[in-house]
Parts: sequence; structure tokens; C-alpha cells
Amino acid sequence: MSARSFNVAVAGATGAVGEVMLQILEERKFPVKNIRLLASERSVGKRLKFKGEQVPVELLQKSAFKGIDIALFSAGASRSKEFAAAAWESGAVVVDNSSAFRMEPDIPLVVPEINPHAVAHIPHIDAFLENGYTKEEMKMTNEGRKIMEIPDLRVTCTTVRVPVLTAHSISVNVQFEKKVTREKARELIAAFPGCQVLDDPGSNVYPMPLFCAGKDDCYVGRIREDDSAENALNFWVCGDQLRKGAALNAIQIAELLAKSHLVPA
Ligand SMILES: NC(=O)c1ccc[n+]([C@@H]2O[C@H](COP(=O)([O-])OP(=O)(O)OC[C@H]3O[C@@H](n4cnc5c(N)ncnc54)[C@H](OP(=O)(O)O)[C@@H]3O)[C@@H](O)[C@H]2O)c1
Repeated sequence: MSARSFNVAVAGATGAVGEVMLQILEERKFPVKNIRLLASERSVGKRLKFKGEQVPVELLQKSAFKGIDIALFSAGASRSKEFAAAAWESGAVVVDNSSAFRMEPDIPLVVPEINPHAVAHIPHIDAFLENGYTKEEMKMTNEGRKIMEIPDLRVTCTTVRVPVLTAHSISVNVQFEKKVTREKARELIAAFPGCQVLDDPGSNVYPMPLFCAGKDDCYVGRIREDDSAENALNFWVCGDQLRKGAALNAIQIAELLAKSHLVPA
């Protein structure tokens, strides 16, 4: 980590991801000089604890980014679209956690988002598109292609809301060009940063949301060769989506930016 410290703004600080961002900034000792907590009018005047201090929440508005070096956005895609450019124009580097600037068709919502706490096992997240997939499913499809830089990667998925407090789980079936044994898959996944193998079916050991909540790594289990297809594997993955996939990723990116001197002095 560089010796420099940064003025950091968290847009959406009172939200589920924003609160975890504050925890992780503390845990990882990110070099924060000053912190500015931004949210909607509803939260102005509230105070949130950061490094033992009660910090007042301010209104997310274009002028809120004056003097900010790094702006972490987690206030929803429409707020990112409205305010991220202003943060950038004020001289801040922006790390955006929403889907605002991801590769996805820019299609407005046609049905309201379902409240995840009010439903159980509903195979419907975000709006349905003309192809029968939901926006969330196309987001998953496109994100994988973007992260792995394989634009024509063939992906299909069904996203389902389930009643857990924290953590996302995915059941993965993946087909390779060459055979990958179960043992080799275990070895490679265990060696990958941020992944841990939790796979002892004989003792009922496999990843579960309750275990993964609050942890930084993703856990992989139920690794097995797919009997029905050539060179294919099945496995089950669980991870705390507020950390990996949201707050932790944003701060890991900010750490790289801080080290790279890409943040304007
Ligand atoms: N939750 C997840 O599991 C998860 C995982 C990955 C990515 N994400 C992404 O992270 C972002 C935030 O999600 P979240 O779950 O943390 O949402 P959330 O709990 O609803 O929090 C939203 C935050 O944005 C602020 N906000 C909402 N409307 C605003 C407005 N008009 N002006 C200013 N601030 C406003 C809220 O402030 P108030 O408290 O004042 O309303 C709150 O701080 C979304 O883009 C989401 O897609 C979420």
C-alpha cells in the first residue's frame, strides 16, 4: 500500500453494500484521510460509525465530490448514471458497484423488483426480456464473458430468489475442450486466490450460505465429473455477495488504484 492517504466518498453509505464497504475499509486499513458518507435526503443527519467516529451522512449530489480522490458508488444504477460523471469531473476516481456501466442491454424495468425478504424460491429476478430470460440472467451471462474476455462464451442460467439473509449460491455445469478430472479441478480451485474448496460429501461438508456470510472468499464444493456430457464438471459455489461481488471488490479495486498512482494527486 502506498504511503499516501485518500479522501474517500461512499455513495450509498447507508445501504446494505455501503455499510459493508465501511467495515471493509476499516478491516483492510485502507488509507483514508477523510471519509464522506452520501445517501438520499432520508438519511441526511444520520450518523454512521467509521473508525470509532460518528460521521454524519450528507446528501448525494453533484457538489458532494469536491476534494474527493476516490468515490465508491453503491447507491443503485440510476444514481451512478446521475452522479458518477460529476464525481469524475471533480477529479475523483470512481469505482462503481452497480450495473450502470456493465455490458448489458439498456432496457427499462417493466415490472417492479420483487422484495427478496417477502418471497421464497421465485425463479424471477428483475424484468423479463423478449428472449424469455430476465435482466439478471443476461447480466450474469454478460459479466462472465466480460471478466474472462470471451465475448462468445456460451452461457445459460436461471436466477432464483431464495430466503437467505446473505450470500449467493450457484450450481455450475461447465464443459471444457479437454477433460478436467475432479482432482485437478479441486487442486486448481484451491490454488485460486479468493477461492476455497469445501468438499467432503461423505461428511456432509459443502458450502452453505450461513457459513459463507461475513467471509471474503468464495467456497466451492460438490465437485464432480458430469456423467452426461464430455469433459464436463458440476460444482456448487457460495459466497457473501455483499463482500465478494460488491463491497470487497470495490475496495480491492481502490487498493490497486491507490498503488498504481492512477488517482490524481
Ligand atoms: N445487495 C446486494 O447483495 C448487492 C450485491 C452486489 C451489488 N449490489 C449493487 O449495489 C448497489 C446498492 O445495493 P444495496 O443492496 O446496498 O441497496 P440498498 O441497501 O437499498 O442501499 C441503497 C443506498 O443508496 C442510497 N440511495 C437510494 N436512493 C437514493 C437517492 N435517490 N439519492 C441518493 N442516495 C440514494 C440509499 O440511501 P438511503 O438509505 O438514504 O435511502 C442507500 O444508501 C446496487 O446497484 C446493487 O445492484 C448489491
